[in-house]
Amino acid sequence: HVSAPDGERKVLLLKPRGFCAGVVRAVDIVRIALETFGAPIYVRKEIVHNRFVVNELAEKGAIFVEDIDQVPEGSRVIYSAHGVSPAVRQQSKDRNLRVIDATCPLVTKVHVEAVKFARQGYSLVLIGHRDHEEIEGTLGEAPDVTTVVSSAAEVAALEVPDPNRVAYLTQTTLSLDEARDMIEALKKKFPNIVGPHSQDICYATENRQVAVKNVAHQADLVLVVGSNNSSNSNRLVEVSRNLGTKGYLIDNSKAIRPEWLEGVATVAVTAGASAPEVLVEDVVKYLGSKGFGSVEEVEVMPENVRFGLPPEIVQAIQAAP
Ligand code: F3S
Repeated sequence: HVSAPDGERKVLLLKPRGFCAGVVRAVDIVRIALETFGAPIYVRKEIVHNRFVVNELAEKGAIFVEDIDQVPEGSRVIYSAHGVSPAVRQQSKDRNLRVIDATCPLVTKVHVEAVKFARQGYSLVLIGHRDHEEIEGTLGEAPDVTTVVSSAAEVAALEVPDPNRVAYLTQTTLSLDEARDMIEALKKKFPNIVGPHSQDICYATENRQVAVKNVAHQADLVLVVGSNNSSNSNRLVEVSRNLGTKGYLIDNSKAIRPEWLEGVATVAVTAGASAPEVLVEDVVKYLGSKGFGSVEEVEVMPENVRFGLPPEIVQAIQAAP
């Protein structure tokens, strides 16, 4: 790419970007719970992996804890969008907690598949990142028969009791390309392996990656708004870099280093599934102040998914005066 005079610098704003249906639902659940039941409401782990969202809810009275044993007996606790293992559910029961479950329905779907395959006697291969909360939760459904793999090398080293009785599942926020390669490697190694009906990578992860793939070649730089513990946001940066376009993950406009913009004519801006639109607006405004005056929204595909609220919240709304 050749650098353009300042007047021609532009922003390509990718669509779809930002909040997915699972994040909208999880954030709504915490807000509505605070409004109907009043503070404090405990939340196990970050409700979604975004610092700004977490801080905002904490100011309204949500108390974020790492473990169930930090929640006083009998209190209300919300599970984060990433889901929990059965062991966590049991701990909540033991402490008499009133649970509101904000697990994304698309994560719950993977839990249900894990239970189903385990009951049918399969060894389970869970493709994902070991230290991610979602994987901790899914792994907890059938820990004795499940192995987490996160690379082709780990697939190669895998050993199972019966190679003809293996099933795989994936984390919802993986790289489409990496997951495809690993599933192919698994199919080669275990020709009779079975998997989910449709894949477990969620629509939001897929759509945001496809949007970056479509537009990265038109940009000199891709900026992904999102926090550094957000899996799907990190994957968006990788997609861009794999295509040869510089990409950075930024929490907000303050994270943009001036040297990144040197010689850059076109910046593509997107946001991970947990990053709120106000932060995108802040980034676009900042870029405007640096000479990126024209903003063009590029819609790669439509996205209209919405999830209903869990029964605990629906009942609370109905009972409210
Ligand atoms: Fe759910 Fe995918 Fe969002 S799993 S929380 S819709 S990123």
